[in-house]
Amino acid sequence: MTARIISGTEVAKQVRERIAREVLVLRERTGVTPGLVTILVGDNPASVSYVTGKQRTARELGFHSVQEDQPAGISEERLLELIAKYNNDPAIHGILVQLPLPKHIDETRVLNAIDPDKDVDGLHPMNLGRLMIGEARFYPCTPFGIRELLAMAGVQTKGAEVVVVGRSNLVGKPISMMLVQKEANADATVTMCHTSTRDLASHTRRADILIVAAGRARAITADMVKDGAVVIDVGVNRIGVTPEGKAKLCGDVDFEAVKEKASVITPVPGGVGPMTITMLMQNTLKAAEMAAEGK
Ligand code: GUN
Repeated sequence: MTARIISGTEVAKQVRERIAREVLVLRERTGVTPGLVTILVGDNPASVSYVTGKQRTARELGFHSVQEDQPAGISEERLLELIAKYNNDPAIHGILVQLPLPKHIDETRVLNAIDPDKDVDGLHPMNLGRLMIGEARFYPCTPFGIRELLAMAGVQTKGAEVVVVGRSNLVGKPISMMLVQKEANADATVTMCHTSTRDLASHTRRADILIVAAGRARAITADMVKDGAVVIDVGVNRIGVTPEGKAKLCGDVDFEAVKEKASVITPVPGGVGPMTITMLMQNTLKAAEMAAEGK
């Protein structure tokens, strides 16, 4: 079997067109324009590239967007002050602090300082807790993008065996919690695998839907995938430089071999990545709508 390749770029384009229309409706109805601030500490090339993409998309969709570039040596106190400033800024509905942060800054303390109503990254403990009990307000953007990709590709999740490889707070844990909920586009049986899992392949081979966020280039090989599985590759590994001087990327899945076995697969780049940015915009629009309605 040769897999159907789901273009995250195409799906993201459709979702963005809808968001742009909804931004116009919100502005017309309430005078509110969604406002997003992205805070970048230091100059990690991957983070710079992600934040640039988020800012560009926000502007394209008609958002009010602010970019805060801070030096790698910024103190934790100064960063917390900056967050407090935007918590109190009525023109800003969403605050995103790009991760990872430098070692001298306590990431948990920083994420906890963001007003949960402006936590469009969905990483505040209150929003993660709400997600766990099926009362989510903001889903973390990458898991949200994965769920939308599965839905738009027509993948049946109800009763499916889902295997997630990776247990990060950013992807593995939240996508597992989302797909286990008794609701539409979820209702799956979920297994979460990680670095201490014994015989990883025995789990991945059972998966109807395999979601890989392991952070290791081509960690999933064809022999680890069931015939006809749906494979979602969240990995972004920099493996060199293209002749044009751009970063050469590959996923956590051996794409060329696995696409001959899977029924559906996402590429890297152009799979989950564009959806992550798009769902950040969806969350920011929602935060602005909530603010406009005084919720
Ligand atoms: N770094 C990599 N992915 C993410 C994300 O989704 N949110 C934030 N804030 N930082 C990231």
